[in-house]
Amino acid sequence: MDAQDVKSNVVLILDFGSQYTHLITRRIRALNVFSLCINGTSSLKSISDLSPRVIILSGGPHSVHAPNAPCFPPGFIDYVVSNKVHVLGICYGLQLIVQQMGGEVTIGKKQEYGRMDIEVEKAESGGLFGNKRVGDKQSVWMSHGDEAVKLPEGFEVVAKSKQGVVAAVENREKSLYGLQYHPEVTHSPEGMETLKYFLFDVCGLTAEWKMQDVLDEELKIIKATVGSEDHVICALSGGVDSTVAATLVHKAIGDRLHCVFVDNGLLRWKERERVVETFNKDLHLPVTCIDAAEQFLSKLKGVTEPEKKRKIIGSEFIAIFDAFGHDLEQKLGKKPAYLVQGTLYPDVIESCPPPGSGRTHSHTIKSHHNVGGLPKDMKLKLIEPLKLLFKDEVRELGKIMGVPQGFLKRHPFPGPGLAVRVPGDVTLENRLDILRKADEIFIQAIRDAGIYDSIWQAFAVFMPVLTVGVQGDQRTHSFAITLRAVTSRDGMTADWYYFDHKFLADVSTKICNEVPGVNRVLLDITSKPPSTIEWE
Ligand code: XMP
Repeated sequence: MDAQDVKSNVVLILDFGSQYTHLITRRIRALNVFSLCINGTSSLKSISDLSPRVIILSGGPHSVHAPNAPCFPPGFIDYVVSNKVHVLGICYGLQLIVQQMGGEVTIGKKQEYGRMDIEVEKAESGGLFGNKRVGDKQSVWMSHGDEAVKLPEGFEVVAKSKQGVVAAVENREKSLYGLQYHPEVTHSPEGMETLKYFLFDVCGLTAEWKMQDVLDEELKIIKATVGSEDHVICALSGGVDSTVAATLVHKAIGDRLHCVFVDNGLLRWKERERVVETFNKDLHLPVTCIDAAEQFLSKLKGVTEPEKKRKIIGSEFIAIFDAFGHDLEQKLGKKPAYLVQGTLYPDVIESCPPPGSGRTHSHTIKSHHNVGGLPKDMKLKLIEPLKLLFKDEVRELGKIMGVPQGFLKRHPFPGPGLAVRVPGDVTLENRLDILRKADEIFIQAIRDAGIYDSIWQAFAVFMPVLTVGVQGDQRTHSFAITLRAVTSRDGMTADWYYFDHKFLADVSTKICNEVPGVNRVLLDITSKPPSTIEWE
């Protein structure tokens, strides 16, 4: 993370690999305090460059005794104490503090996993449990094998589990604190209250981080980054992220932003018209719409292998994008200097895996999150104004910039479009048209039933199999359509959506009646894993 991204009042989370680390970041941001998460083994310089007021050491799957157990950098404790940075260690984080400062951590005799009762033994003001609203007895979520058995000098135990294991420690003089349990999960009902009290009352932070400030700050950064004569390009996918990123950059530099939207022939029903209308009418974004359906479909003819389809689509995007850049250069008399991308914080986090995960550090964003990659010879510098935000924060930012609510709540749509929803050759028969019609009926029914916002993603899939049916006393030999709808937090895992049976019956009837070429409707009832959300 660049030093220029620093906000005041930062809570920095050092990640040691816990599955809950990003939840801590989310919870703190939900309290209107800016928080960032970086690798727990980052250098002291990268930590101090961010000038954190508070540092949280996350949990992690390791034992502090394991060879190569991840640890904060040398000099960390001296740095935090001399700069009066408050530190809270959670689970593994607590054990690290204890071990590194001369206490003792052993492999626990009574390993504690799951719900556990704790008793607060000390509730001093300036301490973790000074908040009188939090009871002396709490139910909390534990997940640890090791335990602290001897505390370093200056520390005291302020809570113990029912089994007598250390549950919370503090050294108020040095502002070093530790919780053996996870306050960030909902299974610790008083956890948020404890975290809130810690940040606001113990550490003296103020709830100042608001979306309007993010907007103002990003506008300042973009204006300062892009020279007054520079031009910027952006490929709009019709999705929330690229739209919000482009709207933001447009606010900062006006018509020196040039957007391109490519109709690759793999879009949904009336997608191009809908998206272009939003860009023009609601957002006043200058967009060049390129009709490249023929170009894409001719390249996809006869191709059935999923990865090959994706690669072809990716490189066609690059070719079109490249040509757009050159046209612009001719028109403007100079090369565009920057490219806007709607990269989100989870993409940045994913490309910086936590220590001990066995994955190596890399800045490559998952290839499928880019519309088509970057043309190599364009030498564009990147502007990624959303790279510190989560998806719901991007939606909020879009909202305050006037991006219509309906647009912001759209389900995600993959870059390769309907190609990944027609297994096999997309160009045979009129597969894409059949799919578009069936998909539109399904989505409209979901909207009419008022359940669109409860679903992460819903779509129809074309089944390239002919089965026998009987329609209007006629024997038919037609295709099938599968309905896919999932709930998910982030698309990484998903469960299938439980529709009402009557709803499914109505959709099935409507599709068979209104979409020529379809005589059968199926429902996909697989979660992810083992399936993926898309079919290819
Ligand atoms: P899967 O199918 O991998 O999808 O479970 C997870 C999420 O990612 C979307 N997806 C893509 N998005 N380009 C994109 O922009 C792609 O190539 C791509 N493939 C999958 C998918 O729609 C779901 O939201």
